[in-house]
Amino acid sequence: MTEDRLNTTGYNQQEDEDIELKLRPAHFGEYIGQEKIKENMKVFVQAALGRGETLDHVLLYGQPGLGKTTLSGIIASAMNARLRVTAGPAIERPGDMAAILNDLNEGDFLFIDEIHRLNRNIEEILYPAMEDFVLDIVIGKGPGARSIRLDLPRFTLVGATTRIGLLTAPLRDRFGVVHHLEPYRVAELATIVTRSAKVLDVGMTPEGAEEIARRARGTPRIANRLLKRVRDFAQVRYDGIITQEVAKSSLDMLEIDPMGLDSVDKKILLAIIEKFGGGPVGLDTLSASIDEEAGTLEDVAEPYLLQLGLIQRTPRGRVVTRLGYSHLGLTPPALAFAADEQLTLPLS
Ligand code: ADE
Repeated sequence: MTEDRLNTTGYNQQEDEDIELKLRPAHFGEYIGQEKIKENMKVFVQAALGRGETLDHVLLYGQPGLGKTTLSGIIASAMNARLRVTAGPAIERPGDMAAILNDLNEGDFLFIDEIHRLNRNIEEILYPAMEDFVLDIVIGKGPGARSIRLDLPRFTLVGATTRIGLLTAPLRDRFGVVHHLEPYRVAELATIVTRSAKVLDVGMTPEGAEEIARRARGTPRIANRLLKRVRDFAQVRYDGIITQEVAKSSLDMLEIDPMGLDSVDKKILLAIIEKFGGGPVGLDTLSASIDEEAGTLEDVAEPYLLQLGLIQRTPRGRVVTRLGYSHLGLTPPALAFAADEQLTLPLS
């Protein structure tokens, strides 16, 4: 997905992933931000451990890169449990799901990323598995088909999704704990990159950390990626220390602007303005006009542009706001904003 947008310059992705693993916090104590979720989860973990039970199934939702996988690893480790990781699109047939479930041991955690992308017939295998820890298997076809029921060990399913709205109600309702991960504050991201810089053994001033944090669009994964790229500039062009100046000029070189917008975000704003008169324009039309996937626009670019107030969603599509025009140094056409209330209609 487009969390990889910064990797278009030929960087070694494997190296990036190895570093990402190293930067991943392993315990609640190392995990910064999401305070309410952490406090709640610590209580649920302690209670389950105290009763000698498994943890209830957990659903984590929020934008890509906010730490859903990391958090589930931390929860599993707090429960002293083994974590099995898979993803919705990787489970193609009901048999795949049955095999994964059948392979679980008592107390295991099963993490399913992008759980909204499970097919309906696969999802249906999960219902009895989650509720009664049984696996219903149909043997044979047609009138002679019969169903046998296998007992499963008690396990904890952790589902992660960027699109809670795409989850079916029966699946959503089977999670005992549901948490929404929010974008991080700049101060939290600054703490995260400061910790990461220590792990990577790179010198950085607090102002350098803050400059990276400000441009990381509320997302730890992006903050850490920016840190790695800025580190490269610091090493090759400067004396290796990430100061505010070094961070600023490196991020400018990477075309990450002071608000964290990248070239894709700018392309979106400019397309709405130049090709569609400032909007409204539908997501599919917009995505075709700039050759970016609609899902990517909706999951990654749009939430941040909305959060910053640079675009708005109206019943007829996306429009660029006054702020959006002025962020690009453009003057909004006078007429477009004569009836501002038109822009504030909620999306039906
Ligand atoms: N790395 C990625 N997410 C993090 C978080 N929430 N806290 C600390 N380090 C992180």
